[in-house]
Amino acid sequence: MCGIVGYSGHVQAAPILLEGLSRLEYRGYDSAGLAVVGDSGDIDIVKASGRLKALYEKTDDGASMHGVCGIGHTRWATHGEPTETNAHPHCSDDRAVVAVHNGIIENYQELRDKLTRSGYSFYSDTDTEVAVKLIDYYYKKYQMGPVDAMSRFMLRVRGSYALAVLFHDYPGEIYVARKDNPLVIAVREGESFISSDVAPLLKYSREIYFLNSGELGRLTAGTATFYNVDQQEIEKKPVHIDWDADAAEKNGYEHFMIKEIYEQPRAVRDTINTVLKDGDINFGEIGLTDEDIAKFRHIYIVGCGSAYHVGVALQYVFEDIAEVPVRVEMASEFRYRHLLLDPDGLVIVISQSGETADTLAALREAKSLGLKTLGIVNVVGSTIAREVDSVFYTMAGPEIAVATTKAYSAQLAAGYLLAVKFAKVRGVIDDEKFDYYVREIDALPDKIAKALEDKERLQWFASKYANASDMFFIGRGIDYAISMEGSLKMKEISYIHSEAYAAGELKHGTISLIEKGTLVVGILTQPELFEKTGSNMVEVKARGAYLMGVTTYGNYNIEDTANFTVYIPKADEHFTTSIAIVPLQLFAYYVSVTRGLDVDKPRNLAKSVTVE
Ligand code: G6P
Repeated sequence: MCGIVGYSGHVQAAPILLEGLSRLEYRGYDSAGLAVVGDSGDIDIVKASGRLKALYEKTDDGASMHGVCGIGHTRWATHGEPTETNAHPHCSDDRAVVAVHNGIIENYQELRDKLTRSGYSFYSDTDTEVAVKLIDYYYKKYQMGPVDAMSRFMLRVRGSYALAVLFHDYPGEIYVARKDNPLVIAVREGESFISSDVAPLLKYSREIYFLNSGELGRLTAGTATFYNVDQQEIEKKPVHIDWDADAAEKNGYEHFMIKEIYEQPRAVRDTINTVLKDGDINFGEIGLTDEDIAKFRHIYIVGCGSAYHVGVALQYVFEDIAEVPVRVEMASEFRYRHLLLDPDGLVIVISQSGETADTLAALREAKSLGLKTLGIVNVVGSTIAREVDSVFYTMAGPEIAVATTKAYSAQLAAGYLLAVKFAKVRGVIDDEKFDYYVREIDALPDKIAKALEDKERLQWFASKYANASDMFFIGRGIDYAISMEGSLKMKEISYIHSEAYAAGELKHGTISLIEKGTLVVGILTQPELFEKTGSNMVEVKARGAYLMGVTTYGNYNIEDTANFTVYIPKADEHFTTSIAIVPLQLFAYYVSVTRGLDVDKPRNLAKSVTVE
């Protein structure tokens, strides 16, 4: 978490830095700050606690800070409260060294003690201040310049970091270093830019340099030079990014979340089109051969948050369609278990950002055990995308709202295509069945678009239930997987307590929480399970629950039970998650709007969680 930006060029840096931060605010938003090198060479620092807006106000939209080189930061607190003192940038006491940091320095206490013994004192509770002062210590002790000081720092610290550093003696230059946390760079005539992700850079350049773990960089206005930790210069080629820069704008929508909900038909269509050609699924570009697919004996799916929920849905799909045993694990649990993985298994890691620390750690664990790995990743060039053996890029484009919608849908589509391809290659389904599944997947974008048409009814229902204190989302089989995602959407943006429950499990304890008026949302898209879930809904209704039902057109007898019903277009039962999630996203969105909350940036959260 945390977002960092930097600029060195020929125009005022502060407004550019603020604009960059506004696109990274999803990474953390409890405080923010800027450091700009003034004409005299002195470094001016301004910080503000709270949202970025406070920093805009404090700097008069950047106009009060003069200088053409600077760095900025938006914070998601790890060490220390989100106060102005703890906000970045941090500096050595004489401001010889000033830095912004995304990550965690694990041995910061030991380093702080060491620096204290050398005469340093500390004004904040942050690990970043320790990092800055350690760089300052090496810089002054060895007097061999910034690259030397930073490489000594890199060899001494444990933890993760993306760092951007200004040195008073080197005005107009920014030094960067990275371990695990992302840092990207763009260079054009007379100007250089750095950022935690590509979105803020696209308006300046589409040729993006990705700094790798263990690498350093020196940026001047219009140049970038890269080094390894041994201070040897290294060659680096930029990666061309196709993303549409406008995709990171709201384009008239009130919030990014609703814009991204509406982008789902396009995101799913584009994802499907990368591999579906002339009725066949081709993984040539992904680097997964038919020979590979034929030999896996197990599939392990790993992810966090909504990506994990995609895994839960795909578990049913893979086992049913492709008849491969699947285990799905939260990434944060995966690495701390005695896993007993089958060496002939495939580990599928799912991540929108490609930077989630737990998912990355799980991937590395799987690789160290010798398993083949496949990533379903949205952000091109992200760490996970680069470390997996094969990568299936989802085509959601930049997702800005913290609560994921279009990336989730694109991940599901990628997973369906994998399952159907596995089934075909492994001889589990014949050509006719294959063609049927392909047609069903291909029809999903239009059906998602159709589900979006029901927005007004959901808006009305949301305003009715916006004051609820508890909600339950129930379903069986794949419907349980949908419930998990629907419930997460609701709680993360509305702050209403919400639980997802396997419908049949509710009666084993949780049903005692049902009171008169408690909202229970039943998902019924699986024909075989319709009646069973319907019975569970009747059970809670008898105890006072108010029922919302989500089912496919045709299942009109649900109205005997549910008080409010949402109908979605029919699809093959394995793929209905993609359609049924739409009303649940809209419902959560409108509840949050009705409650007047910050839909795109819910409290305490960050979109890209780069700490464990
Ligand atoms: C955070 C976000 C979630 C997301 C999860 C995994 O918790 O708030 O929306 O699902 O991280 O992120 P990833 O980038 O790995 O998909």
